[in-house]
Amino acid sequence: MCGIVGYIGNKQATEVLMNGLSKLEYRGYDSAGVAIINDEELNIRKYKGRLSVLSDNLSQNKIVGNIGIGHTRWATHGAPSDVNSHPHTNCQNDIAVIHNGIVENYMKIKKWLDEVSDVKYKSETDTEVIAHLIDYFYDGDLVEAVYKAVDKMEGAYAIGVVSKREPDKIIAVRKDSPLIVGIGESENFLASDIPALLKYTRDVYLIENDEFVILTKDNIKIYNEFKQEVNRDIFKVTWNEESAEKEGYEHFMIKEIYEQPKGTRETLDRRLDDDGDIYLDGIKLTKEDLDGINKVYIVACGTAYHAGLVGRTIIEKYAKVAVEVDIASEFRYRNPIIDDKTLFIAVSQSGETLDTLAALREAKKHGARVLSLVNVVGSSVARESDDVFYTWAGPEIAVASTKAFTTQLMAFNMIALHIGLTKGTLTKEEYKNLIEKLKELPDKIKQILDQYEDIQEIADSQFNNEKVFFMGRGVDVNIAKEGSLKLKEISYINSFAIAAGELKHGTIALIEEGTFVVALATQDRLYEKMLSNIKEVKARGANVLALAKENNREISKIADKVIYIPETLDELTPILSVVPLQLLSYYIAVARGCDVDKPRNLAKSVTVE
Ligand code: F6R
Repeated sequence: MCGIVGYIGNKQATEVLMNGLSKLEYRGYDSAGVAIINDEELNIRKYKGRLSVLSDNLSQNKIVGNIGIGHTRWATHGAPSDVNSHPHTNCQNDIAVIHNGIVENYMKIKKWLDEVSDVKYKSETDTEVIAHLIDYFYDGDLVEAVYKAVDKMEGAYAIGVVSKREPDKIIAVRKDSPLIVGIGESENFLASDIPALLKYTRDVYLIENDEFVILTKDNIKIYNEFKQEVNRDIFKVTWNEESAEKEGYEHFMIKEIYEQPKGTRETLDRRLDDDGDIYLDGIKLTKEDLDGINKVYIVACGTAYHAGLVGRTIIEKYAKVAVEVDIASEFRYRNPIIDDKTLFIAVSQSGETLDTLAALREAKKHGARVLSLVNVVGSSVARESDDVFYTWAGPEIAVASTKAFTTQLMAFNMIALHIGLTKGTLTKEEYKNLIEKLKELPDKIKQILDQYEDIQEIADSQFNNEKVFFMGRGVDVNIAKEGSLKLKEISYINSFAIAAGELKHGTIALIEEGTFVVALATQDRLYEKMLSNIKEVKARGANVLALAKENNREISKIADKVIYIPETLDELTPILSVVPLQLLSYYIAVARGCDVDKPRNLAKSVTVE
């Protein structure tokens, strides 16, 4: 979850590292630090708090040097503090290490180091043992020492190492945590994510698991775990720097909410061929493959999991195959029934979520065919899948996921239609009609965004609530869950979501005078039932905001406020109905003075268990 950067070249390293870290702060932001080498020494600065604390210090008290590594942290072992911040060093302070991930056996390593050496620990982190291990194994060859250190480590990590003893290189290693290398002219870069490098280069190497990288000013060498040199193709990044900037919006989250018409349109349009049929370039599933599949398993975390819940409804409806959906952290420890007749679908914006990746590997072990829906091109989930559907949301920077979700829903629709037509569960005519319906959705999202003032007004009147309920029926339950997650993660309001039919089985006991209830009533066939549920909570004093399709106007007589979404098929409403809920959460969080893009305790990419 942390962000790592490295630089070696002719520029001042501090400048490059701080620029890179500012683009990675979404990965973790409770402390930050740099280690810079100049001729005489290894300089370390690291502080608890946002990156601005480090940058204020560096601007008052500059460090000169052309080689360095930097880190922005999301604490796992040891609370956020100056001393627990990265980089960590050995006892002589001449080897510095940055690390993203967890060294799972660090206690065992500590014990071993205590037996064989005289190490004095400065921090409570797992990372510090790496610096001591490298020191212990150093015998005139830093690369060899890093190899030996890594050989003792278990867990998931990406590390960057510099040392005063060999000041002409940066060494990096990847195991299950993202790592890329940026290629420059007489300079090279290291990072955990592409936005950190966009100011300097678009040519990168994507580093694979168990690979070592040695960066010098003029050279990049990649080795596998057997110390064999690896040739890697250059990956050309097509995003520009501006697409990872705020472009005048107050927060990334609101910018990304407004990018949804474009993201959903691109996700669809880029895969329509000249006849208007869906062409899935990264998916090689043939009719024979699909006929052999008797179950689909969708696995993901958080918002991506909610997309999977909606995906189930769509795939079952159009492709007529049984679908199970699971949370990745549960799936991987549950002995799920999976075999070579299973299509396993991993959903992940970042493509680096460790639980999702581990679940994917588990599914592969059992012979499943793996298809992933991923936003970040070249990410680990994408690379380890048999088939990949890239959503075209563009870089998502705000911690709260928005545009990734709607593009994932678009992707599920396209995959379901493709499978349905290939297997023959949809006629060509039905398929064509459904594609026309999908094409209408981006403009319909835009119509909802145009109602932002009404939603802001509701947010301004409700932001002081300390508990909020979301309820719905059918596919609306999944959007209720997503709305509730969005609200709690950025506004810290205690919110939760229920299937409205479950109300009277317990939860209605919590409804009292003034309780804010968001009721989703967008499903035509369940509309009347939802009206009854709204009446039930109204009778107990609830203040109800309802979401309904624009032709269902009588709901306004029961609910206190109604947000209308444009007419579409019941199965397609999730792409629309989530949008007002994203806006509602956003405006409530802003009204409460919360740090919308960087909510407390969270990070964008969860690369630890
Ligand atoms: C919520 C949110 C998280 C992510 C989850 C999975 O707004 O962002 O719940 O959806 O951590 O992340 P990815 O999609 O990157 O696997």
